[in-house]
Amino acid sequence: MIYLDNAATSFPKPEGVYKRVDDVLRRISGSPGRASHRMAVEADRVVFSAREAVARVINAKDASRVAFTKNATEAVNIAIKGLLKPGDHLVTTSFEHNSVAKTAGWVEQCGVEVSRVRPDSSGFVDPTDVVKAIRKNTKLVSIVHASNVFGSIQPVEEIGRLCRVMGVIFMADGAQTVGAVPVDIEAMNIDILAATGHKALFGPQGTGFLYVREGIEPVPLISGGTGELDTVLEMPERLESGTMNTPGIGGLNAGADFVLGVSVEKIRAFEESLVEALIEGLGAVKGVRILGTKDAGKRASLVAFNIDGVKPYDAGQRLDNDFGILVRTGAHCAPDAHREAGTHPEGAVRVSPGYFNTVTDIEEFIKAVGTIAKRG
Ligand code: ALA
Repeated sequence: MIYLDNAATSFPKPEGVYKRVDDVLRRISGSPGRASHRMAVEADRVVFSAREAVARVINAKDASRVAFTKNATEAVNIAIKGLLKPGDHLVTTSFEHNSVAKTAGWVEQCGVEVSRVRPDSSGFVDPTDVVKAIRKNTKLVSIVHASNVFGSIQPVEEIGRLCRVMGVIFMADGAQTVGAVPVDIEAMNIDILAATGHKALFGPQGTGFLYVREGIEPVPLISGGTGELDTVLEMPERLESGTMNTPGIGGLNAGADFVLGVSVEKIRAFEESLVEALIEGLGAVKGVRILGTKDAGKRASLVAFNIDGVKPYDAGQRLDNDFGILVRTGAHCAPDAHREAGTHPEGAVRVSPGYFNTVTDIEEFIKAVGTIAKRG
């Protein structure tokens, strides 16, 4: 089997991730911060250590500004629903993942004004278009760092800089980048970062986080126990009510440690070389149309494409059944991005290599696509 669906969820995980989940589940099953007994105290350390590791990956100086969530979708929901009130204005793009697109639609129904900046034909937003969309009542700009359909890495540093000048909060959705592409919240002027744990950070599914800069306090989506005598009003616990996914967070810690050990730069350089090989190989297959830029340096580690005369769903099935290759097909939970790409409603085939793939995997994949394209 060749797994090439890392943009959906990474597989395999580094060995340390499996070990840590098992270890926490077997040995430290206390509820973090909920008691003074040894397991609860140790569970609290598991969460604390993971917070520190995630903060290091994104260069957050204060780890207490990182709240764990169950995924990037929850993180995005907390930020958008927790910050915006009727009459406020949100600027986002027309090619967001549904986590942002649907949440923006929801707050719009509740009286928030929403502007959606459109990308160029390769899936890049122009920072000046973002500035043009900002109004007096704009409270938040929310942009996907790298599109999960086009792969395009957005100029977040410049967008963040402009938002800061204009006094608007800037959120980046780092679901496709954190762990795989350098993300530095300071250098990139990011005020809020939503991310997942189960993709390039190699954590288990059910893990994600929200970084919120000091001074920005979204209203929690969920109320409940935080382990204190009364519900805590401070970050990060105020956004983490209810017993946490401690084994998953332990696994996320091991994944983040792996990323820090190898270095994001090295992971990025390797994955970029695989994407370059993919673009070159797929580009040479007759009947294949790639979505987005051909410049691997401007892409996250994913390439969406279509094969003339073959429905994406069928191509995905044939890749698995005939060649043992696993990719994602369809709309990738981002129908708006496919509308912009002109591939709605069928979507596309998306191949997304990870750090554990090899050049041979890519060669096998291109050969398989060639065979499918030839048979039609
Ligand atoms: N958002 C994930 C993807 O793009 C699940 O596949």
